[in-house]
Amino acid sequence: MGSVIVTGGAGYIGSHTIIELLNKSNYRIVSVDNFSNSSPLAYEKIKTVTSRPFETVDVDLCNEKELFSKLSLFTDIVGIIHFAAFKSVPDSVTNPILYYQNNNSSLQNILKFAQEKAIDNFIFSSSCSVYGNADELPVTEQTPLKRAESPYAHTKQIGEEIIGFFCEARPNFKTVVLRYFNPVGAHITGKIGEFPITKPNNLVPIITQTAVGKNALTVFGNDYDTRDGSCIRDYIHVSDVADAHVKAINFLIEGRNRKQISLFNLGTGNGVSVLEAIKSFEKVSGIKLNYKIGARRPGDVIAVYADNTLVKTELKWQAEYTLDDMMLSAWKWQQALD
Ligand code: UD1
Repeated sequence: MGSVIVTGGAGYIGSHTIIELLNKSNYRIVSVDNFSNSSPLAYEKIKTVTSRPFETVDVDLCNEKELFSKLSLFTDIVGIIHFAAFKSVPDSVTNPILYYQNNNSSLQNILKFAQEKAIDNFIFSSSCSVYGNADELPVTEQTPLKRAESPYAHTKQIGEEIIGFFCEARPNFKTVVLRYFNPVGAHITGKIGEFPITKPNNLVPIITQTAVGKNALTVFGNDYDTRDGSCIRDYIHVSDVADAHVKAINFLIEGRNRKQISLFNLGTGNGVSVLEAIKSFEKVSGIKLNYKIGARRPGDVIAVYADNTLVKTELKWQAEYTLDDMMLSAWKWQQALD
């Protein structure tokens, strides 16, 4: 079957994807992570919900030499799933260079490795943030990209362009670019979820931490031009995101792609406001959240949700979990952490 490299495999989406790959495929799975924003505990947690072994390699992907020396030991690599990146919109606004350096040099190095080893199947983690404040909703893959609202979003726009030019130079190279909307929640067993390495910036971990008294939720803006004034996002369960990666790597390896670059929106298609997300959490947990309304957050887009027709038809993927499932699983995980 060969090996599939998963960069950022100890991270939030990476670890959940390893679970799905171990359960639903026969590839040898090699996780590559240097724990710069993740915990080795994630590997222990993966083992609690899977039975198949996997390999782990500690590499800083920004260090080209180290990457080549450690990954060259694997001689049967058939594909690479590249998650490793920093992902906080507000952190990127305060520290843009960190984001450009980390997200784009790691991508360049892993592509160089793919080139030298003739590995031609590549999955790239992109983001709906590439659309910026789009002129139409829901966004389709054809919706023109507007100005990036944050350096994080810009690193993803640049990443997609790097891949575009790389593909032009290498006709055998095939890639699936997945534009994630807002991955949230935890594995349905509640045994693994996102590890809070630093104070979280994302809504759902802040909601669950607020519920246990470890954080204080502020809704960033209730004066947007939306149905209740708060921002609208397309929340998607992390295990649905993970499942799409199994389908995407099989799609490429089995040569079912029609184009060299297959670009898919990965969202449920449901626009949910921040206040609606809070209500869903309160419903499934039975806990009334003590939150306040604050100022708008720099870098936020107002509203974005997916037209997911293409990923459904081409990749035969469909979201299984509802917003309530997302909130309940996140809540279970928060309780497991405490
Ligand atoms: C962004 C990207 C998403 C990417 C994610 C990674 C966009 C549209 N989406 O998500 O593709 O996966 O980064 O981190 O850019 N909020 C509050 N209070 C809080 C925290 C968040 O009100 O304490 C609000 C935000 O203003 C936003 C929503 O909750 O409206 C979601 O925020 P967050 O979870 O941080 O994700 P995005 O920044 O939307």
